[in-house]
Amino acid sequence: MICLGIEGTAHTIGVGIVDQDCKVLANVMKMIDGSKGGIHPREAANHHAENIVPLMHRALEQAELSYEDIELVAFSQGPGLGPCLRTAATAARALSLSLGADLVGVNHCVAHLEIGRKITDCKDPTLLYASGGNTQVIAYSGGRYRVFGETLDIGIGNMIDKFGRSAGMPFPAGPHLEGFAKKGNRLLELPYSVKGMDVAFSGILTAALQLHRKKARLEDLCYSLQETCFAMLVEVTERAMAHVEKNEVLLGGGVVQNKRLQEMVRIMSEERGASMHVPPGPLCVDNGAMIAWTAIVMHDAGIATPIAESAVKQRFRTDEVDLPWMK
Ligand code: ATP
Ligand code: FE2
Repeated sequence: MICLGIEGTAHTIGVGIVDQDCKVLANVMKMIDGSKGGIHPREAANHHAENIVPLMHRALEQAELSYEDIELVAFSQGPGLGPCLRTAATAARALSLSLGADLVGVNHCVAHLEIGRKITDCKDPTLLYASGGNTQVIAYSGGRYRVFGETLDIGIGNMIDKFGRSAGMPFPAGPHLEGFAKKGNRLLELPYSVKGMDVAFSGILTAALQLHRKKARLEDLCYSLQETCFAMLVEVTERAMAHVEKNEVLLGGGVVQNKRLQEMVRIMSEERGASMHVPPGPLCVDNGAMIAWTAIVMHDAGIATPIAESAVKQRFRTDEVDLPWMK
């Protein structure tokens, strides 16, 4: 089974081609220039529309396949920005119809989990998913992937990028923040916002921007931001693991490429006798391969998405997805 998957929930349009054994034959993507501020959904959708066909050609070229070899077409059905989702869905519908191949609509968050589970060979992990727009702790429980905790306002990556923009860092700011943080050593006080199992970042952002205006040393500020926010994530992840009695933690989303975050999660895992699993970078960020792989898993379990049911779902919840393959 060869599946072509299209990811287009937010600022990235991606095309991945994956086979039955989860061999990634191609995984190409293009991201809008986010340096000037947040994402404008319409502009992002236009960007995706311009790039989707060239990306499909490039993916097939890399995979050394032709369109006729594609047996399954997948797309990110949600959650995400309406215009972006619709652009990816339209391309997927057109391709599936013209090839006569089945179509599968995939939940973006479930896809982060499924590709991570397969690639890192963990069985029943607790996922810490920390990206630009999302921050969630997810685990399998009672037949569904449940969200045990999440951000109450902005995603951690958005917070980092907003801070970075004010501090003059290029977009995306994450890797630059990490670089400055390595040279910091003084822990400045920032609000620690864990509420039950949830976290919040906008108060921390405001406090960090204030300290920046008061000329706090940037290295110390980046260090303090990382230590505070990552400790919050680790706390909630650990509590979820204890609650569901799981001993694997899987990382997903662009922010988990941060080495200090990985180190903190590793320490927590080791103390609990658990293992940590990190997929390679291109499979951590938003990408088409994770959509394609999840579609193969779903299709094997008898799931396909008729065109009439292929409308996008901007608020597609992780726990709405049936998981017959987990039974
Ligand atoms: P979503 O999955 O919610 O649609 P997204 O597409 O914005 O979000 P990703 O592509 O998964 O997210 O990740 C991008 C984010 O990861 C950016 O906010 C970026 O700053 C952050 N990031 C990348 N590298 C690092 C790093 N080393 N440390 C911290 N953050 C990082
Ligand atoms: Fe994502």
